[in-house]
Amino acid sequence: MAKEKVLYTCSSCSFQSLKWLGCCSQCHSWNSFVEQQTTTTKYGSMGSSAAPARLIHLTEIDSSQTERMVSGIEEFDRVVGDGLMPSSLLILTGDPGIGKSTLLLQVANNLAKNYRVFYFSSEESLAQVKQRATRLHCIEKNLFFSDQAELEVIVSTTKHEKPDILIIDSIQNCYQSNASTLPGSIGQLREATFVFMRLAKEYGITIIMSGHITKDGMIAGPKTLEHMVDGVFYLQGEDRWQTRVLRSVKNRFGTINELGFFEMHENGLQEVPNINAHLLQQASYAPGSALISYMEGSRPLLIELQALTIPSKFGVPQRVITGLDHKQVVLIAAILEKYLQVKFSAQDIFFKVSGGFKIKESSADLGIALALLSSYFQQSIPKKSIALGELGLTGQIKAINQAPIHIQEAQKFGIEQVILASQQQSESDKVAYMRFSNVYDLLRLFSEKGDK
Ligand code: TYD
Ligand code: MG
Repeated sequence: MAKEKVLYTCSSCSFQSLKWLGCCSQCHSWNSFVEQQTTTTKYGSMGSSAAPARLIHLTEIDSSQTERMVSGIEEFDRVVGDGLMPSSLLILTGDPGIGKSTLLLQVANNLAKNYRVFYFSSEESLAQVKQRATRLHCIEKNLFFSDQAELEVIVSTTKHEKPDILIIDSIQNCYQSNASTLPGSIGQLREATFVFMRLAKEYGITIIMSGHITKDGMIAGPKTLEHMVDGVFYLQGEDRWQTRVLRSVKNRFGTINELGFFEMHENGLQEVPNINAHLLQQASYAPGSALISYMEGSRPLLIELQALTIPSKFGVPQRVITGLDHKQVVLIAAILEKYLQVKFSAQDIFFKVSGGFKIKESSADLGIALALLSSYFQQSIPKKSIALGELGLTGQIKAINQAPIHIQEAQKFGIEQVILASQQQSESDKVAYMRFSNVYDLLRLFSEKGDK
């Protein structure tokens, strides 16, 4: 006998409770609990009537269909794992208006050169889709559109027509006609995702769904779906910055934290294949600026750090830091103060990472130290140089991992000097090295005359 039961599920972490909770006891989100109908089945009533499964040997499994489906949009293909894995279910999420539909349309159109692609646009009318597709020249003959949003209809159409690729834009707008909950509710989202997963695996169809996250990352609920799908990709960016970053957050068939760069133009998203050239072009090389190389996924990025230090007008000096862990900058300022007698404790420190990147590695330590000192002494550090090194609490400058990869990439984009630890192994002889073993030695980079 099946019995209806009500459960409450946290839409940000999927924690379940029999009672509604204002604050989730697992992830501490507020107001994240939504009601979910569940059906419990007594154990005794199941099992006996089910047909037994047939177990097979690995040699019987056909693995021929594992060649990746390549769209030709390289920034996309690389992030998904050198092309889409056939029969996988992926979700592309991001804030509303960031460009998910644009990216999906462009990818779908490119894939339609070699595959049959169905695009279910449940958010926009076909007239709107046509307007956009025409503007972006997405008119491949194997790309078909529908504005159908009913799950059962999408599934039966797909089973009948067997396209190679299915795009669902968006999962939040898909609904089940027989469900008692609203479209976009956590129960329906899960159900729909489960249905698409079965469809992908049983019918060999590759499915990409879009999903939006609201400002507080809730209600829309893709977080709870992340466990269910093969890959999760975030499209991120800032409105004032046209650059859009596609990031792999989960990928069963590729690496995570892989990045792809695009720029939003009037004719859609355009790839930025050599992001490092683009980043270096924007570097200021002014006092307070230091370049570092930072590994995101498998990719070294040349990023400018910017520091501004000015004598503090208040008793407690300000520390305003974006893009880096506050503690990392404060710690480095303390190390420099201790060993170099530069009075950061009487200075306000403003620090940012240009391009809106977030850096979490200790390999940026040396760059942070140089940016701080450069602003303090009002002198630029040598142009076309990058800093690679970690700082110890004793002021020692330490080697970092993967330095040759950073150096090789930096040199491709015209970096001529690398500032690094004395004991760091380096392979390339195409760049000059400035080696330091302790923060004391960094003063050599700044002349007396420029003392603020
Ligand atoms: P869209 O793909 O609809 O975002 P999402 O599906 O993530 O909600 O993109 C919306 C924004 O992108 C919109 O503000 C307009 C802008 N845009 C361009 O600047 N150029 C273009 O060619 C397109 C299609 C959109
Ligand atoms: Mg959209």
